[in-house]
Amino acid sequence: MDKATVRELKAADLSGLPVLLRADLNTPLEGQRVVDDTRIRQTLPTVRLLRDAGARIVAISHMGRPGGRREARYSLRPVIDRLRELLGGGVRFHDGLVGPRARSAAQQLGPGEVLALENTRFDPRETRNDASLASALAELGEIFVNDAFGAAHRVHASTVGVAEQVRVRGGRAVAGILMEKELDFLERIAGEPERPFVAILGGAKISGKIDVIRSLLSRVDRLLVGGAMANTFFCALGLDIGRSLAEPDRVEMARTCLEAAGERLLLPVDCVVAERLEAGARERVVPRDAVRGGDRIGDIGPVSRSVFAAEIKAARTILWNGPMGVFERPPFHQGTVTVAKAVGDATETGTLTVVGGGDSVAASEVAGVTSKLSHVSTGGGASLEFLAGAALPGIAALSER
Ligand code: 3PG
Repeated sequence: MDKATVRELKAADLSGLPVLLRADLNTPLEGQRVVDDTRIRQTLPTVRLLRDAGARIVAISHMGRPGGRREARYSLRPVIDRLRELLGGGVRFHDGLVGPRARSAAQQLGPGEVLALENTRFDPRETRNDASLASALAELGEIFVNDAFGAAHRVHASTVGVAEQVRVRGGRAVAGILMEKELDFLERIAGEPERPFVAILGGAKISGKIDVIRSLLSRVDRLLVGGAMANTFFCALGLDIGRSLAEPDRVEMARTCLEAAGERLLLPVDCVVAERLEAGARERVVPRDAVRGGDRIGDIGPVSRSVFAAEIKAARTILWNGPMGVFERPPFHQGTVTVAKAVGDATETGTLTVVGGGDSVAASEVAGVTSKLSHVSTGGGASLEFLAGAALPGIAALSER
């Protein structure tokens, strides 16, 4: 990586220094309970490095999409409570972001202590990358450490604007340990991956993923497509998808992809359908050309599962983003679980496996294979944009090495 990283800074240079840390603590909550603390845990190495060096750490993050308004259910407070537990103390929470109270709380920090501020997206200036907010944030740290890989594709005040402002003031804007690790794995996939290179894409929409589909098609040996995304491709093949979800305005795009891809793009050949995609629904397995008017496609069928599993087994590099069906509602889970298990098994035979996107990560958990995978990315959207060939603005804004 050609950007400066926190690991290159000397502990002596960090000691006593105010450091602004941008993390991605956007974490699923049920009420006040953190249901998945992966992102909090993944940023701990950076927090510990700064803490051990005696830096005075001001941590910021976004949470959900509150639309520039303060809303209790998007407060970072429960997330910071979990961070405090994981670190064994030394973390205070301030329910504002910038201004005199936040500055004074930051000034009271002792070496190795953490002050976590409230959701950056409570401020409407954040998503506009407003210079006044970026500048106010830059006052909170002489060094800016960006560990928020999951938000690296966003041009926001707390990702891009603040990095620029810190640099203008003569400070350094560096990548955190998680950011560096994420880029390391993705660069291995984007560079010269060992072949066969198999990508598996799923989820609901092709619209958000069309650039990555195009870019991957020029580099993969196989692209396996499942989930509702496959339905739009079925439409492009002239198949009846009943009442299944699809994107009619993307059918032409899907047709162009199919023509360009030839045999490299594999669609499911059979489907699990039901009238309603509810947990416990009465499902049927049908070939993809036998979907009826009232059917909704909820998963890939058993033949498709075997075909996909065989491709995964033969691969030496695998990228997986997006589920094969409505996996959170059995009986529509089997396609996604089969893929998760196959990817887990492939890792054990030395295949490089990178999984991204909240749903695929959750599916890996359900299948019990997360710990086997080479890398579980904390940024679904960011990793796809990177693999589509886009420069991630949050990274571009950091200081050169
Ligand atoms: C994510 O969950 O992918 C990141 O935290 C980015 O969130 P966003 O899509 O709301 O910008």
